[in-house]
This record gives sequence, structure tokens and C-alpha cells, in this order.
Amino acid sequence: MDKEKLISKLNWFYSLELNQVDLYKSQSKAFADEYAGLVFEKLTEIEQLHVDNIFTKISELGATPTKIGDVISPIIGSIAGKIIGMRELHDVLKINIMIEQKAMKDYKELINNVKYSQYGSNDLIRLLTQNFIDENLHTEWFKTKLSEIQTLEFSIKP
Ligand SMILES: [Fe+2]
Ligand SMILES: [Fe+2]
Repeated sequence: MDKEKLISKLNWFYSLELNQVDLYKSQSKAFADEYAGLVFEKLTEIEQLHVDNIFTKISELGATPTKIGDVISPIIGSIAGKIIGMRELHDVLKINIMIEQKAMKDYKELINNVKYSQYGSNDLIRLLTQNFIDENLHTEWFKTKLSEIQTLEFSIKP
């Protein structure tokens, strides 16, 4: 992996993390009266830390962090247009899982790609791994909450 390719991939993550800050911020407002709203608020802060650490990394490589626009829509495909109007928590969780899993998949791929390149410093690998772990934890909470909702959906009150 050459420097140019690494910077372009980091810019993709920079954009993804920025998109996720916006996404979780709007979800924290939409679900303000639920525990999930508090979780989305906390996730907004964590994604902002990812934005900041990727920003720093791109700058250290001598490049200017550049937002490449909406990177979420291609991940969620045909659902993209409906995301704004989504009011059901279970729909929101499903979308969030898709996005977090894409982030994990790409962090993992980048870690493997830079590991043996000249830019694969311990510092960079540690940063990418820590972001990956955060996304993994987010995914697990979403899955737990989704499963709780589905359990309630498929049960009846005697
Ligand atoms: Fe993130
Ligand atoms: Fe995340």
C-alpha cells in the first residue's frame, strides 16, 4: 500500500466517521425520551473521537483531511432515501448495524493492508484497532437492543 492509497482510505474513514456523528446526533434527538437516545448521544461523542484521531493521522502524513461527501448511502443502498423518516427504533438499529459492520470490515482490511507496508507503524495499527473495537462494541449493543425489541414483538401478554 502506497502513501496516496493510505491517505485516500483514511479520508474515506474520516468522511464515514463524520457521517456517523451526524447520524447518531439526529438519532439522539429522535429518541430523546428513551434510553437508546442517551446511548446515541454517547456514540456521537465516540465517533467524534474517531473523526479527530483520523484527522490527526491524515495531517501527520502531510495531507489535508478531506470530506468526500456522503459515504453512508452507498453502504445502505436502497434504504438510504428513507433513513430520515425512520421513526421505529428497530429499523434504526438495523441500519446502524449495517454501517458499523461496514466500518469494521474496512478497518480490518486496512489493518491487514498496512501491517506489512512502510506506513504500518505501531501507532497507526493501534489507532485503527482501537477504532475497530469501538465499532465492534457499538454493533453488539445495537444487536442486543434489537433482539430485546424482537423478543417483545414476538411475545403475547396473557
Ligand atoms: Fe467510528
Ligand atoms: Fe461506531
